[in-house]
Amino acid sequence: MVASAEDVKIDPWGSSQFQDYARLRDEFGIAEFGPVEWGVFASPHRLFRRGVVFGHRDFERVMDAVKAKDPWSVMTGFMPSGDLHLGHKMLFDQVVAHQAEGADLHLALADFEAIAARGFTPAKAERIALDQYVHNALALGLKPDNAEFYFQTRRHKVTSLAHRFAQRVNWSTLSALYGFSGETSLAHAMAPLVQAADILHPQLDGKGPRPVLVPVGVDQDPHVRLTRDIAQDSRLFSLQETKEGDLGAFVKSDDGVKEALDLAERTLRDQGYGELRRNDAYKALYVRRAGKADQRRIDLALAKAERASGQPGLLRPAATFHRFMTGLQGGKMSSSKPETSVYLTESPESATKKVKASVTGGRATAEEQRRIGAEPDKCPVYEMYLYHLAKDDAHLQEVYDTCRTGKRLCGGCKGEAVGLLVGFLQEHKEKRDQVAHLVPQIVAKD
Ligand code: TRP
Ligand code: SF4
Repeated sequence: MVASAEDVKIDPWGSSQFQDYARLRDEFGIAEFGPVEWGVFASPHRLFRRGVVFGHRDFERVMDAVKAKDPWSVMTGFMPSGDLHLGHKMLFDQVVAHQAEGADLHLALADFEAIAARGFTPAKAERIALDQYVHNALALGLKPDNAEFYFQTRRHKVTSLAHRFAQRVNWSTLSALYGFSGETSLAHAMAPLVQAADILHPQLDGKGPRPVLVPVGVDQDPHVRLTRDIAQDSRLFSLQETKEGDLGAFVKSDDGVKEALDLAERTLRDQGYGELRRNDAYKALYVRRAGKADQRRIDLALAKAERASGQPGLLRPAATFHRFMTGLQGGKMSSSKPETSVYLTESPESATKKVKASVTGGRATAEEQRRIGAEPDKCPVYEMYLYHLAKDDAHLQEVYDTCRTGKRLCGGCKGEAVGLLVGFLQEHKEKRDQVAHLVPQIVAKD
């Protein structure tokens, strides 16, 4: 089913499925995440190569940093809602890959959000966060060096920053973005501001303004957009291309215009931009013919200069967006419906039963399937190969082709999937035992 324009809608707390990702991307101005983007990494992760991560905002900033070997960070968060399943695993896989590529990791345990949006007690949120999110992440390969988990409610810097942001965001913005109504609790309404604080606070540490990548599911895009606006709001300058193709750095405030333009002029000269034109009455400094790459470079240089002069200078975060796995029963994969997914801590017996009972893209009879082939694109079992089970692309291709041409039948195909899945679950269990002692080490005290 293809959604009509009116029902393309992104709701982080809703249950909408995103059938038509290309459409969603265009509708919301999300850019395509393709070989040009993931090609920047030395060994691009399978989730990139296979189009699971399908869109981005401002990923070019990360590419700049990777190419120049400059520091960049990954910031994401997890609402501790229940046991982790295969649908959650992919985000951890992506984060682990970024760690190997040199990013430092800031990982929020969104207990504030679980308490506010789900009505959890703090104790329950903490238990799920540690036992499921932190422990499983370590077992999936996350290393404690250069990485931290923290609880939102324990990090004063985050909650106080959220209050500061709250001064600049009004109710119409929030209700337009999230559909909040008169019944929405104020704690729930605060959750997006806390998340914006999560995303932006790493730039306030000693390393200063830098590219921060927020890998998330596409349901989180409203938070990403809000956060990007809040970051831009903190800036001294706004950058805009002029009709002549020059770049204008405009001072946003009416106060301190001269000092701000002095700062911009000094910064840009240091960056080697010689052809500058200044117009104090227009509160503007123009750089001749600055292309997109120059714009990003100038934006970062100005952010750092703003910080050095005592301003926040927060750079807008970049984001990547991943698709969601279909549940084993065909609908949404959901922690509250155990039959729709396999949990990372599930027993092999129970996982086997679930996969055997899964819907497929197969035909009514074996004879028909041999004759006309099956439909991997509609098959949750195929998705398990795509996201997790087929480690190399040639294997995935073989599953796809033999399914399409009817050489593969669903019984045998499920059997192969179960074999791979059980292998993973057993290995994961052993890894959990091996890394248990690291759990307290990777969780920040505050
Ligand atoms: N809202 C996210 C979720 O529902 C969790 C989250 C909290 C988050 N803070 C974040 C995600 C910062 C990305 C970045 O899972
Ligand atoms: Fe799905 Fe495998 Fe059947 Fe193809 S053969 S429809 S991939 S279960």
